[in-house]
Amino acid sequence: MASNSAKVASFAPDAPGMSQDPYPVFAELREHDPIHRSDLGYWVVSRHEDVRSVLMDREGFGQGDFVENIRLFYGPEFDVLGQRSYKWLSEVFLMQDPPHHTRVRGLVTGALNARRVRAMEPRIREITDSLIDAMLERGAGEVIADFAYQLPVRVMCDMLGIDAEDPRLPAVMAAIAQSFIVFEARALSEHELATANEQIKVLQDFFEELFAERMREPRDDLATALVQSGGQEDSLSHDELVTVAIGLFGAGFETTAHMIGNALLSFARYPEQWAALVAEPDKLAAGTVDETLRYESSLIATYRTALRETNIRGETIDRGAKVLTLIGAGNRDPRVFDDPNSFDISRDAKKHLSFGGGIHFCAGAELARLEGRIAFEQLARRLPTLKADASNPQWREGFLFRGLSALPVSW
Ligand code: HEM
Repeated sequence: MASNSAKVASFAPDAPGMSQDPYPVFAELREHDPIHRSDLGYWVVSRHEDVRSVLMDREGFGQGDFVENIRLFYGPEFDVLGQRSYKWLSEVFLMQDPPHHTRVRGLVTGALNARRVRAMEPRIREITDSLIDAMLERGAGEVIADFAYQLPVRVMCDMLGIDAEDPRLPAVMAAIAQSFIVFEARALSEHELATANEQIKVLQDFFEELFAERMREPRDDLATALVQSGGQEDSLSHDELVTVAIGLFGAGFETTAHMIGNALLSFARYPEQWAALVAEPDKLAAGTVDETLRYESSLIATYRTALRETNIRGETIDRGAKVLTLIGAGNRDPRVFDDPNSFDISRDAKKHLSFGGGIHFCAGAELARLEGRIAFEQLARRLPTLKADASNPQWREGFLFRGLSALPVSW
């Protein structure tokens, strides 16, 4: 297999410094080895054009053989489906190819279509304002747990019909964080894997109970609609419903919370951008969403499997080979964005890759955009002197999901 990887150091998602600042490594790959062969056994693509074309090419790239993909990290003997967390992941529709993917996606996109999302606007405003009221009452503090996570979690709870005051909720949120580590493109340590297996069980039990309650006592919420869809032709089995609910709940809040936190950190580094948003919140809030996703994406990479032999920029990608697409590198490609390392909310950032592309394009993009627009608009309006402490950002561990674990703010 031809490779020009000697040009740059082999890519490793857990290399020192990556979680603090992955962008110098991304730039080096993008400029000097855009189709990189990592010693870890997979390809890494980093130019905007290539990331996009891999994600869009449904004939050439897909999810492929789940078990083989995971064995790439652990070795050929590893009992992938014997691990509860990988078994769950293997059934998540994001990890599947058509026709299974198509069938489940249809159900989810129906629940998240533009009309339904628009109808949620008044409620999202109400939640946002109540969270800002609480911040004003408490005074300066920490914004990730108290606002960035609370907004999307409450929206997801509303959607699924979960009581936002349910005492199990903090454990459910922690379980999402500790089990979604199985999305990472690497072998987990024994401890990480054992924790992920335990925590996915916490989530399965929680959603099984929720669906059982809705079977007994239907309500006007998505959980009820999902259980009631049972029995129809092509409907999802009980286990499939639980898998979808966990995926939706997790996808719905982790990434959105990261988007809010990453924006506030970026504003602290570019105070003139915050001043611009405060001056025209209506006009610039939507642009803030796109620019935050471009500049500091919540999900900086995703991977695919070559479904047939493919050639990209002269490199032969064999059938079955795994390809990591660096969304965060494509988002800062100077071929597409001027001055890409600057945060500028008035630029047109819509070509960012942070919602993916093709048949797996983010099913919650409309919802995430709406939540972000309302959050940025209302924070700028009601807390115009808001400032985060950007001196020592606490990035969460892990490579794929990029977000802060804490961010002190004052106003
Ligand atoms: C800023 C927030 C968000 C970001 C950056 C984001 C990003 C992404 C990306 C990049 C993908 C594609 C992954 C791939 O192709 O491998 C994706 C898929 C998905 N997202 Fe999001 N997402 C966000 C918010 C949401 C929300 C709010 C929901 C649901 C309420 C959601 C639900 C999903 C689902 C269900 C998929 C799988 C789609 C499929 O496989 O067909 N996301 N998201």
